[in-house]
Amino acid sequence: MKIVIDTDPGQDDAVAILLALASPEIEVLGLTAVAGNVPLELTARNARIVCELANRRDIPVFAGASRPLLRPLVTAEHVHGRTGLDGPDLPDPTMALQDAHAVDFLIDTLRREPAGTVTLVPIGPLTNIALALRLAPDIAPRIARIVLMGGAYFEVGNITPTAEFNIYVDPEAAAAVFGAGVPLTVLPLDATHKALVTRPRAEAFAALGTPVGRAVAQMTSFSERFDLAKYGSDGAPLHDPCTVAWLLAPELFSGREVNVAVETASPLTLGMTVADWWGVTDRAPNALFIGDLDADGFFSLLTERLGRLPA
Ligand code: RIB
Ligand code: CA
Repeated sequence: MKIVIDTDPGQDDAVAILLALASPEIEVLGLTAVAGNVPLELTARNARIVCELANRRDIPVFAGASRPLLRPLVTAEHVHGRTGLDGPDLPDPTMALQDAHAVDFLIDTLRREPAGTVTLVPIGPLTNIALALRLAPDIAPRIARIVLMGGAYFEVGNITPTAEFNIYVDPEAAAAVFGAGVPLTVLPLDATHKALVTRPRAEAFAALGTPVGRAVAQMTSFSERFDLAKYGSDGAPLHDPCTVAWLLAPELFSGREVNVAVETASPLTLGMTVADWWGVTDRAPNALFIGDLDADGFFSLLTERLGRLPA
């Protein structure tokens, strides 16, 4: 399957990208960077660092939106560090950024590839995806599926009491994506908070004995500081790779086709994803909202695939 990953690396984004690059079932057509965890200049830099870590300088990387559609940018250096990829000591990228804007790449790719053959995997704020849909509404029916990390319902929020970070940063963009009528799979905190990098799982990354294994162990141990202090759990959630894992092994996940609406007005609940899990409204289902996963199966798949990347 052909995918484009829209990303704001971020250590967990990096692991998602590595999983995709390690999996022969997936052809990564390109990475589109968006401002989120850290500003755009850094997310575009980090995306290239990850490609070079995987020895995949052939992957085109594009810079996209430097801020949300309407609101000022909110970043998350408190989780990901100043660079957004703190933890491992990785060299600056030598591969160039593509000249085209990420949104133009998204539009051109979806118009060029046969309809229904490209899946979009957004794992940051949805600004680039919303801009592409607004600039070129004709691409909507050509998208096979959008598989995104974002939102929360039973698990509540992580950046505010009610909102998950990716949705909160650009709620208007999220509302546009959820309302676009494109087949949608949502990996919310309800699922990703069950994908915890426990000590044995982190040790399994390091035990790969490869630069990728070592880097992933260092990335996940860096970004866990914030989550352990906050949640007191026995490991930090590994959010973004759940999207790629769902593409590879959907049987590891369970969810429900429900209506999901995004709060864009209330200062109290801005960015909340309101999932009608019990079908109490007449709002039509618009997303497969994932509520659970087989965490051991997820980490086994992830670790095995990371082990395939070059030593
Ligand atoms: O809330 C988790 C999401 O926000 C992840 O995508 C993480 O990388 C950050 O972007
Ligand atoms: Ca992300």
